[in-house]
Amino acid sequence: MGRRLLVDRLRMRPTGPSVSRRGMLGGLGGLAAVGCATEGKSPVSGDTGVPTPPEGTCGPGSPTAAGDVLSAGASPFEENPFQLGVASGDPLHDRVILWTRLVVEPTDVASSPSASADVIWQLFADEALTVMVQEGMVVATAESAHSVHVDVDGLDSATEYWYRFICGAHESPSGRTRTLPCEDATVEVARIGFATCQNWQSGFYASHRNMAEARLDLVVFLGDYIYEAGTTGEVRDHGAPECFDLEAYRNRHGLYRSDADLQAAHQSAPWMPIWDDHEFDNNSVGGSTDDADVAARRTAAYQAWYEHMPVRRGPVADGSLQIYRAVDFGTLARFVLLDGRQHRDLQPCGDDIGATCDEVFEERTFLGAEQEAWVRTVFETSSEQWMVVANPVVMLPIDLAGSFLNPDQWDGYPSARARFMDTVATHAPGRTVLFSGDIHAAGVGVVPEDPAVYDGPAAIAEVVVPAVSSRFENELAISVGAILAVQAHIGWWDWSVNGWTQATISADAIDVAFWLVDDRTDPVSPVTPARTWRIEAESIVPVET
Ligand SMILES: [Fe+2]
Repeated sequence: MGRRLLVDRLRMRPTGPSVSRRGMLGGLGGLAAVGCATEGKSPVSGDTGVPTPPEGTCGPGSPTAAGDVLSAGASPFEENPFQLGVASGDPLHDRVILWTRLVVEPTDVASSPSASADVIWQLFADEALTVMVQEGMVVATAESAHSVHVDVDGLDSATEYWYRFICGAHESPSGRTRTLPCEDATVEVARIGFATCQNWQSGFYASHRNMAEARLDLVVFLGDYIYEAGTTGEVRDHGAPECFDLEAYRNRHGLYRSDADLQAAHQSAPWMPIWDDHEFDNNSVGGSTDDADVAARRTAAYQAWYEHMPVRRGPVADGSLQIYRAVDFGTLARFVLLDGRQHRDLQPCGDDIGATCDEVFEERTFLGAEQEAWVRTVFETSSEQWMVVANPVVMLPIDLAGSFLNPDQWDGYPSARARFMDTVATHAPGRTVLFSGDIHAAGVGVVPEDPAVYDGPAAIAEVVVPAVSSRFENELAISVGAILAVQAHIGWWDWSVNGWTQATISADAIDVAFWLVDDRTDPVSPVTPARTWRIEAESIVPVET
């Protein structure tokens, strides 16, 4: 009671044109009889994204009353349209998004029918799909590439569910999902997966197959879900030129999502994805632009991203899409997911990697004013044990005293980094950990209080999440990596590995396991927890275990 409920501003916005729905309550042994307090009706202010307190304690809501048994509706798909699998995401304590997209040829959206399809969704209490909790019907339209987002509410907190879709005579595979604990629940442990950078052309997804086996509470994807580039296949090929329009982005997402191991990872746990640059364009800055072609490309990229992600919020009329959001995992952790692309100023120094230029030190923004204010409020109102930040690009300084500036990272935005660090120092010192993507390296380190003094006191812990398959291996990277690895603020840095990262979060510490693939060119490569580190509260300096 009275705790601030932290969600993004669109928490209550219904997703998908649900036309029919019913709840089947008997199988849960009294779901409807349990007190329903918030039922997804917490007011959330519309201007700042700052949450306001819920009107009651957390409990299961009531699904819509039972109605007629649903039967399969019209389907314009003659063959099985569930070629991209199913997914769930953006869970809250009483709801989760269920996703699928109907397409027979994953890399050819033009072959899809123009007619709409009726899609039945079903939610179950058991893995065998014998105890149905709710079901409903949505209409998948060609305008949204026959993608489906269902925001199923009225669920129990911290509870596993399974789901599937039916269209015409065809049934989708089933997926497992899990709701979050109540915001004021005491949680002993959270098992979270982090993944990023899955360049199709650089390798296979043994990492995803391995992560799927972990049946995690939640997966946070840190960006570079697709790569927009044309054919440069090293291990396997995009088989298409660089993406510029909606059809191309849809087909690129379709290609990636056709991978069985990636589908398995989605089917194993709810995801909360953010994006980085390659969902749109290399080192893209996705904000407003006077260039109509760039604006149209961005709109297409964001639209396709939404159509393929199990997220609650879709694009608005101007083509923008707000993806920064936060959720609480009980009182154990607050997850803060950042958008590091859409609202930033252009990179300084012509976006060239090299020596620092004066422009770096000008007053510039990385998150944009609105997101920055939101971050301050998110930290200001936090009392969780941990602040876990999904950070799209590396924050710890790797500029080697100005000789190796990567202007695309936080290093290129020192004034914005200083403001972020001030927020952490004021509201969450000793309990803030970043999980970062983009760089195609694995590592651990700390952001020093003064980023120019590498051996100074630690301000924020940072875990650099390895790429699922992408590589950034060239002579410069290797030589810089060797120098980085011995810097005082870096515990480990390795540019030669791929995999995923598991965070086991408890009150005293976050245990980080780097699950690394033996061979990214082998689709059935072994994946092992090659390095493990512990980040203890207060100290926050990662220690190898
Ligand atoms: Fe990447």
